[in-house]
Amino acid sequence: FFQAVASPPSSNFLLLGPSGSGKTAFTTLLEAKSSPASKKSQTTHTSQRSTLVTVNLPPDVPTASNRYRSVNDPSLKEAARNPIKYRVRDTPGHGKLRVSQGLSELQAMAQSKDIKTRLRGIVFMVDTAALVDEVTLRDTATYLHDVLLVLQKRAKNGSSSKRTTEIPVLVAANKQDLFTALPPGSVKEKLEAEIDRIRKSKNKGLLDASADSTMYDDEEILGNDDQEAFSFKLLEHEVGVKVEVVGGAVKGDSQEEYGSGVRRWEEWVGMCL
Ligand code: GTP
Ligand code: MG
Repeated sequence: FFQAVASPPSSNFLLLGPSGSGKTAFTTLLEAKSSPASKKSQTTHTSQRSTLVTVNLPPDVPTASNRYRSVNDPSLKEAARNPIKYRVRDTPGHGKLRVSQGLSELQAMAQSKDIKTRLRGIVFMVDTAALVDEVTLRDTATYLHDVLLVLQKRAKNGSSSKRTTEIPVLVAANKQDLFTALPPGSVKEKLEAEIDRIRKSKNKGLLDASADSTMYDDEEILGNDDQEAFSFKLLEHEVGVKVEVVGGAVKGDSQEEYGSGVRRWEEWVGMCL
């Protein structure tokens, strides 16, 4: 009945994050690992358009459905011959392009009921060596805040009878190879504190504006409870959207000391499949 048709892979991941964080470098690396024959150049430049690539999950990375598989399982050999594929959409992170591309693609994909465009997860890439800069931190946290707000609205609009599955977010704490890089734990703390500031000032702006205007009617505050400081845990608890911060490096992939390269991000992807 179900014919084995060569259908395109339907697991989509959206790659977001500010300019220069390493999204295109990551995409290029995944492509190179998927087809070692194609010698892609590793040089990147500021992206102006989104691109969609289909890549392989390394056969030894477990997925949600086969996580209890042992290393001796014959299905591992089969997986090596016929790897699981998924699609990554690399988006431009430049401030002027992210609203028209990354965020609007997220909005479209988040609403889509079409299985072919179903969004399995969001990888939000961060340059952990650049976050010490206040302006970069604010810019990064603002972008992440806006992404999480889209997911929160989506979660709240889904009626309880037809529960939508929440889209998880991986904050890929990239460039752990640089000695100036902040460790993932402090990246998480900094982003949470900055998002807290952003939503507090937004909340205040809403209160000031609501006296004489209705234009903010459908605006809402991330995480709901403005008494408690914002945290990713709070968001998961109140809204059901999961955010994980995991360190790694596109440069020096698979080297243990750099948070195992991109391996742990691929493991996160695997758990979404
Ligand atoms: P936009 O397209 O402008 O949104 O940027 P992007 O996120 O695609 O950044 P891109 O992949 O172009 O990378 C920016 C720079 O960071 C490049 O010079 C990369 O070589 C460098 N880079 C990416 N990943 C790493 C890493 O893990 N370590 C180091 N040291 N540099 C990296
Ligand atoms: Mg790019």
